[in-house]
This record gives sequence, structure tokens and C-alpha cells, in this order.
Amino acid sequence: MSEIPQPGTQPVPFIGQITDYLENGAPQEIRDAIRWCGPKDMLSPSYPYRVAMKGKDYDRHMQALQIELVKMHYGLKASGKRMIVLFEGRDAAGKGSTIKRVQENLNPRSAYVVALPKANDREASQWYFQRYVERIPAKGEIALFDRSWYNRGVVEKVFDFCTQAQREHFFYQLPEFEKMLVDDGIILVKLWLNVDRAEQLRRFLDREKDPLKQWKLSWIDVEGLRKWEAYSQAITETLTRSDNLHAPWTIIRSDDKKRARIAAIQTILNAISYPGKDRDAIGGIDPTICGGLDILNV
Ligand code: ADP
Ligand code: MLT
Repeated sequence: MSEIPQPGTQPVPFIGQITDYLENGAPQEIRDAIRWCGPKDMLSPSYPYRVAMKGKDYDRHMQALQIELVKMHYGLKASGKRMIVLFEGRDAAGKGSTIKRVQENLNPRSAYVVALPKANDREASQWYFQRYVERIPAKGEIALFDRSWYNRGVVEKVFDFCTQAQREHFFYQLPEFEKMLVDDGIILVKLWLNVDRAEQLRRFLDREKDPLKQWKLSWIDVEGLRKWEAYSQAITETLTRSDNLHAPWTIIRSDDKKRARIAAIQTILNAISYPGKDRDAIGGIDPTICGGLDILNV
């Protein structure tokens, strides 16, 4: 008998719980939306498109954006600039796959992902921002944060991982902290990927079925299904309290992952000037899915 678990047979404890939630816990309209949709249908009634972007249009635009990203990174290195991009959003909003597209053709040594696990005991006893500060980029570097210090505003609130006093202290220090980064010349891009409730559940069901995606499911995702409203409250409060002139949020409706990835990369490219920048190749941002807090649909 092999000791190596075969795909699909790993002891992932919460497999089945997503389906169980669909059948026994989800609101009726969510259940119906998922039951009756086609694979490319958009589930959110308020999403501005009914179907996902065509693959051919996506590929063409994405190819052009990839070339711009390479030029942008070259320019960043030449000028010694530094960039931080925060990828935030609900579970399954598409942070991981968007980061992948941003990093794909860049030098991984200088365009790197920061995906910190929960703080260990020592880190938890330090200044909250300390472990993030250690990952701030040097000249020519881009740090892509897969989740960030905003955990304290959202997931830590929803799951009671911090006290109310710690959270207030976080909000008190936050504007000054981000201002210090920006004042020091760092280009700070804050992206919030938003996803509708039915679409999120559809993605979780997908992950549950797919042995290559099951690792992405965590107990937080499973417990979080029943905490949609609590998340909405924490998200609205956090985004409202941290949307500053020096560090504004960009909200991206990510129900269609293709349109969302394009908007995310456009936003990053628009945040910096670099030699050979081709505005036509970048294209205009779709204002119906990407913009300021007014785009938020929680
Ligand atoms: P992800 O969705 O990023 O793959 P999870 O769904 O497991 O990860 O967790 C969501 C976030 O909650 C992560 O950033 C994780 O570090 C954080 N988290 C999980 N458990 C705790 C905890 N006990 N205290 C503080 N943060 C936690
Ligand atoms: C995402 O899709 O947003 C990321 O993969 C993180 C998650 O599992 O929620």
C-alpha cells in the first residue's frame, strides 16, 4: 500500500460541508441561482454583464497587458521605485489567480508574493504591522500581498481573532502607517476584489469537487458561509475607514474573473509612469466593474 495520498483521497476534513450548506443552509434564492445557471452565466442579478467575457477577447487584451507589465517592471527597476499591491477581498474572490497573472512574466526575485500565515505567538506579541514592514520592497521591487494588514479589519473581526480595542488601535494607526509608506515614495495600490454570495458558493463547490483545488478550502471558508452578513458589515466599515486620499481603494467586481483580472492589471499599470507606456494597449478601465467605494456591492 502506498503511503502517498492519491489526489482526491487526502483527509480534508470539511469536504462535503459545502454541498451540505448548499442543500441545507443556503438561502433559497442562492440555491436556485446555482441550480439553474449555466457554467458561463453570471449569478449576481446586479452584475452589469450576463455572461463571462469571451476567451478570445480576454486573451488578446491580457497578452497586451502582460507586455505592459514587463515594461512597467523594467521601468520600476531603472528608476529605483518600489511598489506594493494589496490584494484583498472575500474568500474565493480570485486574489490568488489574479496575483498569478500579475506575476506570470515578471522576475520572481523582484516581483514576489507575500502571503503570511496567521501570526505566531512571538509575532502576535509585536507591533501589529511589524511582520508586514519586514516585507516592504526595496528599490526595483514589487510586493504582491495576498491578504495583508487588513485582516484585522475583516476576518479577525468576523471570527473574533482580536479584541475590539486591538481593532480600534489598528484603525487609529492605519492612515498614518500607509501615509508613511506613500511619503517614503512607495507606490501603494489597494485592490478589493468583490464577489457575489451565489458566485462565492459556486466557487467553493468547485473547489470541493476538484482534487487540485481542495487545498484552497479552509475551515474559515466553511464557517464563513454562515457569516456573510457579518463579513458585509466588517468590510463596509473597514473600507470606509481606510479609504484615504493618499491611499484610496480600488474596488473590482470579480464575479467574472476575466474582467476582474484585466481591471486589476490596468489599475496597477495606471498607478505608475514608465518608459514606453502604451495607453492604447492598457485600454480604458470598465467603470461598471471597477472604481471607488461606490462600486462596492456587499
Ligand atoms: P486564505 O483564504 O488566505 O487561503 P484562510 O481562509 O485559511 O486563508 O484564512 C483567512 C485569513 O484568516 C488568513 O489570512 C489567515 O492568516 C487568517 N487567520 C486564520 N486563523 C487565524 C487566527 N487564529 N488568528 C488570526 N488570523 C487568522
Ligand atoms: C481567492 O480566490 O480569493 C484566494 O484563492 C483566497 C481564498 O481561498 O479565498
